[in-house]
Amino acid sequence: MTLQAIRYDDEGLHLLDQRALPQATRWICCRSAAEVADAIAQMVVRGAPALSIAAAYGLALAAKRGENLDAARDRLADARPTAVNLRWALDRVRQAPDLEAAARALHAEDLTINLRLGAHGAPLLRDGVVTICNTGALATGGHGTALGVVRSALAEGRELRLYVLETRPYDQGARLTTWECVQDGIPCTLLADSMAGLLMQQGRVSSVIVGCDRVAANGDTANKIGTYSLAVLAKHHGLPFYVAMPLSSLDRACPDGASIPIEHRPPGELFDALPVDVWNPAFDVTPAALITAWITEDGVWRVLPNEY
Ligand code: MRU
Repeated sequence: MTLQAIRYDDEGLHLLDQRALPQATRWICCRSAAEVADAIAQMVVRGAPALSIAAAYGLALAAKRGENLDAARDRLADARPTAVNLRWALDRVRQAPDLEAAARALHAEDLTINLRLGAHGAPLLRDGVVTICNTGALATGGHGTALGVVRSALAEGRELRLYVLETRPYDQGARLTTWECVQDGIPCTLLADSMAGLLMQQGRVSSVIVGCDRVAANGDTANKIGTYSLAVLAKHHGLPFYVAMPLSSLDRACPDGASIPIEHRPPGELFDALPVDVWNPAFDVTPAALITAWITEDGVWRVLPNEY
């Protein structure tokens, strides 16, 4: 059984409040698309596939309440700009005759995709593996993408240790990934982002695996801020750098990384003790040249094919 952080019933959309973890397990119920959009913007739910699932249910709630679906779609789509999965899900559910059924199907499908992705990626991992952010069950419909590959590798009996970067400034690694690892008994070691270079220099890891929020047609990949630095370090140390990519993260309309919108989060999420200017981009773009392979539900891609 995989952890489920998203539930939908007659009352509304129930989200495990990721802001409260790991100290408390608290659920929030959203009864309208506007409430779902606010929950997304305020990080109650985060992680690209989880955003897509929440947004799909948000649109279903709008339909149930007889609200204007175009307005609801736009409000949900604007809640966070970088993860393309959110818009992909809204477009898919908007076209369905039964929006609630379509949202439920998308939710169930995400878990299946992650299990397939995990099976494809598992043979690539051994020994020490470093990751950033949270890409686990909390960030998806279950199992996870990059963390799902780690789960699948362990389930196959491979001996692994996951090195989890803290993921400043929002600490998704420290608060969420370690929480999932402790729950599931995944061997893990937490370190600050700035320690990744020494970790690699000392030969403690043999690969890097990360998630993604949007992959452009040329393979440039947007993911949590700090991913690009990790890829540069991996290149310097000759380590493979893997991106776990559900195909819903691939944006064929986006030619390259420069075209990916990068979300900037409120300054207070980084520092609020002084009235100082703060630069707080939530994502960065890793050029395709630094990526060894994209692990998808359809297999491991060493290059992105032009036609899918
Ligand atoms: O700002 P967040 O926490 O939504 O950022 C999440 C990430 O960057 C994840 O790595 C990405 O969405 C993949 S989740 C499977």
